[in-house]
Amino acid sequence: MEFILVEKHVKPFVSLIRLNRPKELNALNLQLMQEIKGALLDLDEDENTRVIIITGNERAFAAGADIKQMAGKGAVDMLKIDQFTTWDTIKKTKKPIIAAVSGFCLGGGNELAMICDMIIASETAQFGQPEINIGVMPGAGGTQRLTRAVGKAKAMEMVLTGSFISAQVALALGLVNKVVPVELYLEEAFKLAAKLAEKSPIAIQMAKESVLKSFEMPLQEALFFERKNFYMLFATEDQKEGMAAFVEKRKADFKGK
Ligand code: HXC
Repeated sequence: MEFILVEKHVKPFVSLIRLNRPKELNALNLQLMQEIKGALLDLDEDENTRVIIITGNERAFAAGADIKQMAGKGAVDMLKIDQFTTWDTIKKTKKPIIAAVSGFCLGGGNELAMICDMIIASETAQFGQPEINIGVMPGAGGTQRLTRAVGKAKAMEMVLTGSFISAQVALALGLVNKVVPVELYLEEAFKLAAKLAEKSPIAIQMAKESVLKSFEMPLQEALFFERKNFYMLFATEDQKEGMAAFVEKRKADFKGK
């Protein structure tokens, strides 16, 4: 790995992916995205990882796709590179992903954060889709996930003007889960990860999958999908353990079985 650092099991059942192109503000070149994809595929298979955190550094989560790498490309080059199959694989990660965001979270960086399931932001985080300033538009979900997160008016403003919003505004609009002082954003992400890591990983996976269906399916079908996942969980040892622990007034010990 050249552009990311992966720390497996940095806390119990929690693994960390750190974007590591600090001089370029973690601009997402094609190799970096391939590395994220590879790491997520690996962590998704790893028995001892239940939650994944993706972070950058204090100055930047990621300032977008690598403009220098894209600048000379034509439409056919972009079509042949087909970078979005990489993004599609990232999107299919079964385990929950938390983005721990500080500093610039722009363009493809914001799109990557929005593919994650929850976002913990530092007070210094700035979110934006500034592609319009360089003569293009978002291509990895910025017009869709952002609109669903913050609503049409603000999404239009961000996508058409390229203006950034602060962490506090992102919180008020529902783009992020929590805003904390800059020295605490990673710690806060670990606290959230620890909460998820102690649940049944199968129930977490089914629940994540069901929530995501609300973006993709009509309501009636999505409710049906939810119900099937709910029934399926009654085939797990974790359901027996969770309900027995409640009745016996003790903490459940979920095994992911
Ligand atoms: C390549 C980038 C970059 C990017 C920053 N850098 N963003 N390189 N691609 N997206 C590089 C700069 O060229 C510079 O390198 C170094 O990082 C530091 O950046 P500065 O501009 O000097 O820092 P600063 O003045 O603090 O400004 C920070 C900034 C600005 C506001 C974030 O860098 C900026 O506007 N970046 C571009 C943001 C953007 O347009 N993102 C969307 C990209 S398109 P040197 O070598 O000069 O020191 C996109 C499409 C996604 O994301 C489609 C799906 C994949």
